[in-house]
Amino acid sequence: MLLSHLLAAEGVESVIVEARSQDYVLARIRAGILEHSSVELLCSVGLGERIGRDGLEHRGIYLQSPGERHHIDFVDLVGRSVWVYGQTEVQKDLVSARTAAGQQILYGANDVSLHDVASDKPSVRFTDSDGSRQHLDADVVVGCDGSFGPSRDAIPDTVKRVWERVYPYSWLGVLAAVAPSTDELIYAWHPDGFAMHSMRSMQTSRLYLQVPNGTDVNQWSHQRIWAALAKRLGHTPGGWELTPGPITEASVLPMRSYVQAPMRYGRLFLAGDAAHIVPPTGAKGLNLAIADVALLAPALVALLRNNDPGPADDYSDVALRRVWRCTHFSWWMTSMLHVNGDPFDAQLQQAQLRWICTSRAAAAGLAENYAGLPLGQ
Ligand code: DHB
Repeated sequence: MLLSHLLAAEGVESVIVEARSQDYVLARIRAGILEHSSVELLCSVGLGERIGRDGLEHRGIYLQSPGERHHIDFVDLVGRSVWVYGQTEVQKDLVSARTAAGQQILYGANDVSLHDVASDKPSVRFTDSDGSRQHLDADVVVGCDGSFGPSRDAIPDTVKRVWERVYPYSWLGVLAAVAPSTDELIYAWHPDGFAMHSMRSMQTSRLYLQVPNGTDVNQWSHQRIWAALAKRLGHTPGGWELTPGPITEASVLPMRSYVQAPMRYGRLFLAGDAAHIVPPTGAKGLNLAIADVALLAPALVALLRNNDPGPADDYSDVALRRVWRCTHFSWWMTSMLHVNGDPFDAQLQQAQLRWICTSRAAAAGLAENYAGLPLGQ
């Protein structure tokens, strides 16, 4: 949606083929944190009004281990803040803007396949929401279809390389209709497992618990979830307390890192989760997808309008530099905060956390990555 918005501003027409319904896309709870440069980009293309009104600007995060909670102040350390503003809200803003502009969005597409992507006349075939087969000829196809879509597999095995890490734990994520018990996000290391207190608004909290892979969400009553959150997020000086409330949604999220290269094959370009997955710790997934399309949009304009293939030829290599930086950061945050049953690793994690909480240089490294590098880097 954002890519279509950026392309339209430069006179390049696009059609969006979406597997889900519009209701599903507008309701699904996804990521929650926007980097500084993501907000700047959205504001610069007319999508900043609701972010400015309803978004919550955060100076930093809290890092915690039992008995200690430490504020990492990104603004002080690197001069950049982040914003709490859900991906679902970004999606709503994009649907309003694109619908007003007459964007073609074909929801409910099934059996999507890509054809002739190595030629100058690629096409996409699918069954539309009425059950009719459709065929779209294009100059370029962009796979923004996530890790389960057909685009990543349209790059031949002889061409692509894949790197993957599966983590031995998952997150149980809940959305709760209760005011956050904290002004900024809390990332907590605890011997029982990682816990996090995030939020979506001043009325809605988003919380996560590290759980074993294969956990059935039905094994976790709401009472058990709140008790585990209170235990892992509690034990801080000053009598802080977690306020529980009605849980409106709960699900288990597996965690992995995945990178596929190249991100371009002929006239097929990959962006976002189609090319790379990060574990959620550190909130990079959505921001990385935004960075991909911020790079891809001018490259496609150069290719299609100015007959200049240079930026499109460079897209994969340039995008992958940021992808690997964020892949490292997400892996590092995940590895530092999740217990894996190894007592040696637990000591290393606590030593690392102490270092970040006592060294300005170490804290600045975290802050620089979390608040995000400028786009184009
Ligand atoms: C959220 C998720 C994250 O992984 C993170 O690091 C910060 C916030 C969230 O969903 O709110």
